[in-house]
Amino acid sequence: MSEVQNTTPAKKPIIFSGIQPSGTLTLGNYIGALKNFSKLQDDYDCIYSIVDMHAITVRQNPAELRRRCLELAAIYIASGIDPKKSLIYCQSHVPQHAELAWILNCYTYMGEMNRMTQFKDKSAKHADNINVGLFTYPVLMAADILLYQTNLVPVGSDQRQHLEICRDIAQRFNGIYGDVFTIPEGYIPKVGARVMSLQEPTRKMSKSDPEDTFVALLDDPDTIRRKIKRAVTDSDGEIRYDPENKPGVSNLLSIMSALGEGDMEAIAAQMQGQGYGALKTRTADCVIAALEPLQAEFKRLINDKGYLQGILDENAKTASYLANKTLRKVQKKIGFAARG
Ligand code: TYM
Repeated sequence: MSEVQNTTPAKKPIIFSGIQPSGTLTLGNYIGALKNFSKLQDDYDCIYSIVDMHAITVRQNPAELRRRCLELAAIYIASGIDPKKSLIYCQSHVPQHAELAWILNCYTYMGEMNRMTQFKDKSAKHADNINVGLFTYPVLMAADILLYQTNLVPVGSDQRQHLEICRDIAQRFNGIYGDVFTIPEGYIPKVGARVMSLQEPTRKMSKSDPEDTFVALLDDPDTIRRKIKRAVTDSDGEIRYDPENKPGVSNLLSIMSALGEGDMEAIAAQMQGQGYGALKTRTADCVIAALEPLQAEFKRLINDKGYLQGILDENAKTASYLANKTLRKVQKKIGFAARG
């Protein structure tokens, strides 16, 4: 990515995505987003941010937040993102995110933010801290994406509404000032875009819910096995893909499918006549095998804090250089005074 500045070969389309360092990453984060990040890095110029500024919309313990940012850098690399090909950096190290977010706040309507379902959910969960940052969270996310003239945004389906508003803001801005921003598209996987809670399979798997409702990316094999064994299913005993009537069983089938076991119906057909015990054993085996290489690489990387810090420092500089190009263009368009 660093050669972008000097000897740019044929320009590749750009990918941007981010994950919040706000808790333990889950299997949902992995299947819905992270797993796809490294797959795309040969065909795109990829930028993957550790979105710590989004994380503080919910109160964080400072020492933990600092630790999690470095851990997320290690997880990104352990998942296969090559920091020589793709940028990995902390959002707060690139001040252009906050600067563009402020400008875009002035091109976004209260009514639009009021409609955001994530805002409604999070304000219900954190009723004692419904802060303005939580309200304008999607505008900061739009700034993240638009700063880099992003073409494609790999995310899970819970981010669909935020992506839509990002596109609306960009189109509105372009409508006034000409073609300033590239209009991004979402990259939402066909299977696994919404991994469900193990205990309440009609709800999304979420890191802010109790421990037994999710598999954490760094859970050891015994813990993974135990959590999946206890996953809520149903009482009819038939292994069949039917998300409406059999959300628990269908969730396990989708998890396996997203991890490369074939499509859900085919897995269900192979397992005809076997019980839910067998289904859970196979799901657990599959999840353990998928996470094992990432976990091993994470353990190695997390001991090399100097290396991780070096990547974050260096990549933040490149990100800032790229972001500045868009920011300066925006500032000029809206009439901020020229700089000498
Ligand atoms: P965050 O940190 O909540 O989640 C990171 C990614 O994981 C996906 N995800 C899921 N996918 C499938 N099933 C689930 N149960 C599940 N839970 C989470 C999310 O869709 C997301 O892709 N606002 C974003 C972070 C962000 C961002 C951005 C993303 C900030 N700026 C710019 C893309 C582009 C978020 O809260 O992700």
